[in-house]
Amino acid sequence: MENTAQWTTALWLDFDPLDNMNRELMARLAQAQAASDAELPQAWADLVAHVAMHFGQEDTWMRETGHGRADAHALEHRVVLNLLREGVGQIRQGELEPVRQMARELGSWFARHTHAFDAGLALHLRRHSLS
Ligand SMILES: [Fe+2]
Ligand SMILES: [Fe+2]
Repeated sequence: MENTAQWTTALWLDFDPLDNMNRELMARLAQAQAASDAELPQAWADLVAHVAMHFGQEDTWMRETGHGRADAHALEHRVVLNLLREGVGQIRQGELEPVRQMARELGSWFARHTHAFDAGLALHLRRHSLS
């Protein structure tokens, strides 16, 4: 399927702690995209749980190391996590299509987020751990 989320080297940041989380996010997103209607509630819940952990971990590292772009980066995390959480409610009400639409759009959003924010954070964290 051409739109299936997949981690590629274009998303590689050369910093394992972030790369490992980004790989896992793409794997869970791919599962949600491929899920049947019956599987979607669990696949979406797994995706939301991962994203909450993933963004929370990045936010913590930004706070702890005084990352200069933390505010804009953390804001984008909050906005997207809120949308994903709204998806949980939509699924509960049987509204699967908006959630499937979100799943389709999330792959390109995520690639953009990785380049706009996670790449800078990777550089910052690499330097920080060397100093
Ligand atoms: Fe990330
Ligand atoms: Fe991020």
